[in-house]
Amino acid sequence: MSEKARLQARGVSVGYGDTVVIDGLDLDVLDGTVTALIGPNGCGKSTLLRTLARLLSPRKGQVLLDGRRIDSYPTREVATVLGMLPQAPVAPDGLTVADLVARGRHPHQSWYRQWSRDDEAAVAEALEWTGVAEIAERRLDTLSGGQRQRAWISMALAQGTEVLLLDEPTTFLDLAHQVDVLDLIERLHTERGRTVVVVLHDLNLAARYAGRLIAMRSGRIVADGRPDEVLTEGLLRSVFDLDARVVTDPVAGTPMVVPVGRRHRSTDPSVAATR
Ligand SMILES: Nc1ncnc2c1ncn2[C@@H]1O[C@H](COP(=O)(O)OP(=O)(O)OP(=O)(O)O)[C@@H](O)[C@H]1O
Ligand SMILES: [Mg+2]
Repeated sequence: MSEKARLQARGVSVGYGDTVVIDGLDLDVLDGTVTALIGPNGCGKSTLLRTLARLLSPRKGQVLLDGRRIDSYPTREVATVLGMLPQAPVAPDGLTVADLVARGRHPHQSWYRQWSRDDEAAVAEALEWTGVAEIAERRLDTLSGGQRQRAWISMALAQGTEVLLLDEPTTFLDLAHQVDVLDLIERLHTERGRTVVVVLHDLNLAARYAGRLIAMRSGRIVADGRPDEVLTEGLLRSVFDLDARVVTDPVAGTPMVVPVGRRHRSTDPSVAATR
């Protein structure tokens, strides 16, 4: 695996108003890898992703793209390397799926380079890959939450960037479609060598699909490594305040989190199994 990192954070501090959310964070997004960001609500995952995508400016430190400050590049140039799917994306009224996905090609166009066959092909492929080709002419506001989510992912794909930052791309999806989206990410990684950073709340799916898990709490990285190194019962307690067992996923062999919860807290699992 390549240890090169086109995208890096160096001593990044970022926040909103008087509040500092992330303080002095360092991160190398290794090229050609899939990294999942995990952590409780409000710990700063979206803030970190937005900072990496240059949508937020650090107060201290910097984000580097190919070793150069990301804010020193023209916007269009960044958008040809780096695509971001926000947690709650908003589209103008009346937009169709095809319109939305075509917008992914905007960074590739200019006054001297209009809509081309490459753009057409990229849009058709992105619609196909995400299974929204049949609903391409539907308006986004008439779709189910899951269909809309897939349309946005399709737009991010059409952009054709080497690095994709995806903030909870599986929210609103039923389990089968969650697996579809993660399989898609896997294909982007294995067949196209893309680099993906994805925020996921489903720890079991995160452990299956990401080679590297980064656990955050209160704006800090508290664990960073392979899923089997990061997803431990101790970490779940310290990061999520969650009492859970970690067993082996019978299908993937990766760690699988089984929460205990109030109802089963006092029950010895060996007793429960024989009752
Ligand atoms: N636009 C904003 N203005 C002010 N505070 C914000 C803003 N966006 C986020 N915050 C605050 O920053 C902190 C980190 O938020 P962030 O959205 O990064 O969390 P997160 O880890 O993505 O959470 P979730 O899992 O709920 O999406 C939270 O305390 C949140 O309330
Ligand atoms: Mg978030």
